[in-house]
Amino acid sequence: MTIYPNEIWEPSSDYHTRTGKLYSEAARDHLWMHFTRHSTFEGHEGRHNVPIIVKGEGAYIWDDRGNRYLDGLSGLFTVQVGHGRQELADAAMTQFGKIAYFPLWSYAHPRAIELAERVAHYAPGDLNRVFFTTGGGEAVESAWKLAKHYFKLKGKPLKHKVISRAVAYHGTPQGALSITGIPAAKTMFEPLVPGGHKVPNTNIYRAPEHLRDDPKAFGLWAANRIAEAIEFEGPESVAAVFLEPVQNSGGCFPPPPGYFERVREICDEYDVLLVSDETICAFGRIGDWFACNQLGYVPDIITTAKGITSGYAPLGAMIVSDRIFEPFRNDTTYFPHGYTFGGHPISCAVAMANLDIFEREGLNAHVRENAPTFRAALEGLLDLPIVGDVRGEGYFYGIELVKDKDTRATFDEAECERLLRGYLSKALFDAGLYCRADDRGDPVIQLAPPLTIGPAEFADIAATLRTVLQGADAHL
Ligand SMILES: Cc1ncc(COP(=O)(O)O)c(C=O)c1O
Repeated sequence: MTIYPNEIWEPSSDYHTRTGKLYSEAARDHLWMHFTRHSTFEGHEGRHNVPIIVKGEGAYIWDDRGNRYLDGLSGLFTVQVGHGRQELADAAMTQFGKIAYFPLWSYAHPRAIELAERVAHYAPGDLNRVFFTTGGGEAVESAWKLAKHYFKLKGKPLKHKVISRAVAYHGTPQGALSITGIPAAKTMFEPLVPGGHKVPNTNIYRAPEHLRDDPKAFGLWAANRIAEAIEFEGPESVAAVFLEPVQNSGGCFPPPPGYFERVREICDEYDVLLVSDETICAFGRIGDWFACNQLGYVPDIITTAKGITSGYAPLGAMIVSDRIFEPFRNDTTYFPHGYTFGGHPISCAVAMANLDIFEREGLNAHVRENAPTFRAALEGLLDLPIVGDVRGEGYFYGIELVKDKDTRATFDEAECERLLRGYLSKALFDAGLYCRADDRGDPVIQLAPPLTIGPAEFADIAATLRTVLQGADAHL
């Protein structure tokens, strides 16, 4: 038997709630969806129903009308091993039978201990200490608090500011939101935690013109902007730099060659902690347990979540070097921070079983072997006038859409509205591909499918994108 959470709740197979409403109607009337414009679902019939996903199997999901979609985003960059894995349900059930819940507040339980040991083993360098959270934003929040606390213990109490990159997303708690570089996600919540400063990201497609054809020089230029920001703010006041290995928001910006090498040097020079936010990039997304392993740098802290359980249960983690943990070993010192559900036993049990699947099926190697074919399938779309750039790593790509390929001119706000929300998002879904059309930076289509897929699915994804993108002109 395959267990899907919704099947437990469905009173009947015709997708009505207990009050007799269709799920889509009850969702419209009662459910507050995240980052969602609810007006989309008001006062319309059919076309604007809330999409209800009822089932998943492998790389595919089904809606309540029986339509099948390729899950081109792994839910939300999360379902690495694909949907419907019975052994993850079994691992949860086994743990339920032992102890369903206990906190990590001065006590521990076997699954958190095993998982901490295993994650430390996969992590680079001396990153041996694992602090569990329930998600990525909490991990980022924890890392900023830890950086502040660490420097107070080390006699540098003024170090509290953080540097991160334009358009990067690091989560929604108010500290993590200060680190986030997307003005639209922040404006309504100002004033946020003070001390978040931004530097340019590594989008070489939009780099200063003299650097566009020289990735190495661009990498050095982009890294040096961090040194410059530290100098501007005062090195005595800067605690940490938060960077994703491959930045998601804006559409997959891989680091140019030499970038992280130089960032590491800068952080060492100014005694600033390097935090690798691998909420998306860890656990196989670019073909390694941690992306920093593959990209050849050792951060002081890794933050992660999502793929650690493939999303079958909520879990995040902050992984910390021995050096940073050292002052917390002593006397009465402790980190006054935690979450009721951080390191939940069920989530940790599911994570262990998830990582077993990774090892047994060689998913990291599978991603490394197949990534060039995936990239080639997407690069095949570069002949379309609307496709300006295809970029990414592993099973993680962004396709930037442009108005004019020669000048790289982008769409204005009204055009983005018509193109992304008026057409692309729905057209891609209707054509059987769940992915994301996003304009937090320049307009992009984001892809991050389950790590289990191969050339046949890559070809399907590319074919669907081609058909839908060819129809885009009519909607501008
Ligand atoms: C890089 C990065 N950091 C943090 C977060 C926030 O994670 P969560 O939604 O689990 O809080 C995300 C979410 O996508 C992310 O991509």
